[in-house]
Amino acid sequence: MERSTCILGIETSCDETAAAVVRRYSDGRGEILSDVVFSQLEEHAAFGGVVPEIAARAHVEMLDGLVGEALREANMEIDRLDAIAATSGPGLIGGLIVGLMTAKALAAAAKKPLYAINHLEGHALTARLTDGLDFPYLLLLVSGGHTQMVLVRGVGDYERWGTTIDDALGEAFDKTAKLLGLPYPGGPAVEKAAMDGDGNRFALPRPLRGDKRLDFSFSGLKTAVRQTAGSIAPVTDKDIADICASFQTAITATLHERVERSLKRFTDEYAGICEKPALVVAGGVAANHMIRQALEDLCEKNGFRFVAPPHRLCTDNAVMIAWAAAERRAKGLAADSLDTAPRPRWPLDERSATLIGHGKRGAKA
Ligand code: KG4
Ligand code: ZN
Repeated sequence: MERSTCILGIETSCDETAAAVVRRYSDGRGEILSDVVFSQLEEHAAFGGVVPEIAARAHVEMLDGLVGEALREANMEIDRLDAIAATSGPGLIGGLIVGLMTAKALAAAAKKPLYAINHLEGHALTARLTDGLDFPYLLLLVSGGHTQMVLVRGVGDYERWGTTIDDALGEAFDKTAKLLGLPYPGGPAVEKAAMDGDGNRFALPRPLRGDKRLDFSFSGLKTAVRQTAGSIAPVTDKDIADICASFQTAITATLHERVERSLKRFTDEYAGICEKPALVVAGGVAANHMIRQALEDLCEKNGFRFVAPPHRLCTDNAVMIAWAAAERRAKGLAADSLDTAPRPRWPLDERSATLIGHGKRGAKA
């Protein structure tokens, strides 16, 4: 068995171009040797969302330089790497092609194995690198493109317990911000505006409350925000602050109710098997203080450890892609062939059906 493996990771599935070198020791510990990210936020801000064509071009322009930087920072030559990994899906096809083709070219030229990684698996396994977490655990992924509750049983072994049936949570923040004339990305803007607002002024809906399924729904909330703003137009800054605060109150209450069901299910299924259950949160929305606090409280109340990797590793990055490849390799899972095609849609749990209305945008993860 190898004492340690060193992997170059590439991430280009949405609007971050990233490269990183990660080492994994045979005892399961990991070490980040370099972590370079170029965020395309400014390129897309004027359009109020990610423009696929602009994203793909930016990846082409930036990726080679970033890979060079990641190798230099890690003091690593390609020949000394054990493998090359790239996100192969889900995500925007243009970006996926750029990242995967680059990884294939490097792998072919240096005669190294290629790992085509599922972006969601990267998010799912990050907490093992940052916090040395043991299986099984629950993952709540809340980003611009996904809202999922996933049971992480092992490397390559995932069970999706819940997903959004319409908008992703970050998307709900972004659309609400747009509706209210706040800048992109909407999450931080809504959170900032809400700080001066009255969260009880407007009673916004709590979608799927009481529903036995573990799914999420946010599009009704967005519609309610539109109607509320319309009914008091023209809105003042105070109105906007109150709507944002009320939106966050509704979101937090909804998440609380939805997530608690998953914690209870985990407790039932793993009673006596898993001594210290844990909930991991990942994705850009995990930065939201009110949501984070609600999840922390919920974990404390239900006897769960709350794990939130550092923000930089919660949002899109290449460390998680290299790490996922290292974990797959350590488990003895096969590398991928150089014919591997990118997969814009690629559920983590292949057994879970795509829900109606889910993934219409399908771009961000
Ligand atoms: O994980 P991420 O950086 O990118 C992907 O979606 O892949 O997540 C971005 C999303 C955006 O929708 C953004 O509005 C949201 O995360 N977000 C937030 C906050 N910061 C970022 N949502 C709520 N509160 C925040 N503070
Ligand atoms: Zn992501």
